[in-house]
Amino acid sequence: MADLIVALDLPDAPSAVELLDRLPDRCAVKVGSILMTAAGPGFIRGLVDGGHPVFLDLKWHDIPNTVQHAVAAAADLGVEMVTVHALGGEAMMRAAVRGARDTVAVVAVTVLTSHDDLGFGAVIGRRVDAVGAEVTRLARLALESGAHGVVCSPAEVALVAPLAAGRRIVVPGIRRAEDRADDQQRTAGPAEAAAAGATHLVVGRPILQAADPREAYGAFEQLARG
Ligand code: C5P
Repeated sequence: MADLIVALDLPDAPSAVELLDRLPDRCAVKVGSILMTAAGPGFIRGLVDGGHPVFLDLKWHDIPNTVQHAVAAAADLGVEMVTVHALGGEAMMRAAVRGARDTVAVVAVTVLTSHDDLGFGAVIGRRVDAVGAEVTRLARLALESGAHGVVCSPAEVALVAPLAAGRRIVVPGIRRAEDRADDQQRTAGPAEAAAAGATHLVVGRPILQAADPREAYGAFEQLARG
């Protein structure tokens, strides 16, 4: 069984509010850097006050002190979960967890799905034959550094699940058979991802662009529950 989170990939607060009117009350939502930059912390407070668990997906990667205080500021806003990059390293992730003060879950992004073997090899300065092995390595580092979970693509859930030991596995790229893949390269169905060990499923366009977002949400939720 996995929890469903709607990715509010929208340009501004009015379009997000319009969508939320067409979704169940208090549904969990993900706010990324576009909406956060456009709408600001007041909008996040409004979501929290409205009973929405908020996943603030800003993928921090900075010196430990900065990330610690950014996570603490997110905790003060009342969000439920935040992201950091595992590539920020152990000290940064430990600082993030300190900033969370047991009120926010810190989950670590391993390798961005936009990287291929060659591109990621250029970033880390050595040849990479399989990004999956790098995902596993970085997931292990994140979990050893005290992160409350990791974010990974559907293709990597089975690799990460044995390491996670009760911690979170947050998975985007979720599609039902009838949904368009859009720009997602590797997708999985909600039931399939949940069965493989995902604890949270992030769904954007199949809900955002549905004729009836509430109905689409209900269908995804039911599948995620197994
Ligand atoms: O519309 P869709 O369901 O593809 O949205 C997926 C969400 O998950 C988007 O907000 C996207 O930025 C995010 N995401 C992703 N792949 C990752 C990490 C995050 O699609 N590896």
